[in-house]
Amino acid sequence: MERHIDTIGILTSGGDAPGMNAAIRAVTRSARFHNMNVVGIMRGYQGLIDKEFVKFTSSSVSNTIQRGGTILKTARSKAFLEADGRKLAYANMVEEGIDALIVIGGNGSLTGAQLFAREYDIPIIGLPGTIDNDLYGTDSTIGYDSALNTIVECVDKIRDTANSHDRIFFIEVMGRDAGFLAQNSAIASGAEAAIIPENNTDVDQLAEFIERGKRKSKNSAIVLVSEAQKNGVGGAMYYADRIRNEYPQFDARVTILGHLQRGGKPTAYDRILASRMGYAAIEALLEGQRNVMIGIKNDEIVYVPISKAIKMNKPINQELISVLNVLSL
Ligand code: F6P
Repeated sequence: MERHIDTIGILTSGGDAPGMNAAIRAVTRSARFHNMNVVGIMRGYQGLIDKEFVKFTSSSVSNTIQRGGTILKTARSKAFLEADGRKLAYANMVEEGIDALIVIGGNGSLTGAQLFAREYDIPIIGLPGTIDNDLYGTDSTIGYDSALNTIVECVDKIRDTANSHDRIFFIEVMGRDAGFLAQNSAIASGAEAAIIPENNTDVDQLAEFIERGKRKSKNSAIVLVSEAQKNGVGGAMYYADRIRNEYPQFDARVTILGHLQRGGKPTAYDRILASRMGYAAIEALLEGQRNVMIGIKNDEIVYVPISKAIKMNKPINQELISVLNVLSL
């Protein structure tokens, strides 16, 4: 028999992402619509361990859909990685009367959710909240589109100075293990190349690309680089150093966009995505779903087993690589 759910707990965990507030709002309002109580858990799993609980009403989420960051705060809890931490978290959850959890976060956060659900038989619904877009089973994650737009705005500005000085800029963007941000921001900003973890880029190949652009009368170039470390340094620094050493004719500079990519207002796309996913999370609980992540595939809501969402590789569409190569000539 399905367990009756009176009270849900909601938390955000891992790196914040624009649109998380829109998701919290959607979950809260949908749950209240069905007369469920909502407990906001502050600072991710750490708040579950420290009993940082806040009663959420419909008005707790007023005027939040447009705000970046997360009103619930977030953390990467070390204590929750330990069995003792999870035991305490579960005891606090039971004491607070929380029957089910909604977890908004990326790969690490959903991995924690899966472990917790298996150990304590708790219904958990995950929402993909990460700018990296690296969760399998959904076309987009909450925050990805906003970060992409932020990056493109920055690259447009850097291009002005790159053009003026005839320089090559290596612009490092987030996504340790996934090149979605780098590849698509390169296409959207008209960059010359993207270096992503999914593809092996060779310095000669890169220089050839840049040289080809130069022959076509372009005197500057923009290369988007995923932050994955190479030989102990960030990707952008690594490639810029090699280009400087091996092709001194190029005047190379590095810009690391860093955490500014995670800030700012969510785009309309992310607000709608987060609203649909938050609403779907409560519908899923009511249908008796558990331990699934809400995804959107081809504009349809899908339930993805959390085990699949975190384990399966989400490939970069190879067509995107060809689009950039051809259009940057
Ligand atoms: O997972 C999201 C993310 O923004 C990654 O792209 C990045 O590598 C990481 O978080 C940075 O984490 P922190 O803010 O803890 O330095």
